[in-house]
Amino acid sequence: MCSNEDAWNTLRQEILECQQCPLSKSRTHAVPGEGPQNADLVILGEAPGRNEDLQGRPFVGAAGKLLTELLAGASIDRSAVFITNTVKCRPPENRPPAPREREICSPFLQRQLFLIRPKVVCLAGRVPAETILDTHVRMAAMHGKQFEREEQTYYVIYHPAAGLYTRRLMPIMEQDMSKLKLLLDQKTGHGTPSGEGQRRLTDFSSR
Ligand code: URA
Repeated sequence: MCSNEDAWNTLRQEILECQQCPLSKSRTHAVPGEGPQNADLVILGEAPGRNEDLQGRPFVGAAGKLLTELLAGASIDRSAVFITNTVKCRPPENRPPAPREREICSPFLQRQLFLIRPKVVCLAGRVPAETILDTHVRMAAMHGKQFEREEQTYYVIYHPAAGLYTRRLMPIMEQDMSKLKLLLDQKTGHGTPSGEGQRRLTDFSSR
């Protein structure tokens, strides 16, 4: 029988060697993702950028630094989070991954989520939100909101790079991250006395 560890190793190897779409031609390294295999929280970004492509690790550039800070600001330890992307290889010139590229790569993500079974999947930006929720997304309307699809909870945040380019978004992004922490505590039963997280989440959403 195939153990979870075997399944993880096979999946990782398949991602590293994948040649199913043209992104494999221009990549330096595929970026499978990293974090605990039993993480309660998965953060899903768009695609590896230049630094990620060079290092083979997700969110290690400027956006990644901001992500780490935003997580820490909400008392979420980055090392407890599994972080990955909708496509595992860098699109040339950091263009958004094409719908067909996302479609080809999506079984990898589905297999990762199947193995991890996270309590919450946080969709960081429009591309992951549209990929998962399969609808046109206006970030201004959807950030900070929770969605249920096929017994999985999703939560939408602005992509960390948005905070680098549009500084006025930073307080909103900080608040969204605090709401994510409350949602996570509520789902895991940690952190807050029973009912407290739910009440505070409701308070946020009515603002
Ligand atoms: N932006 C992303 O969406 N993912 C990364 O891994 C890095 C930057």
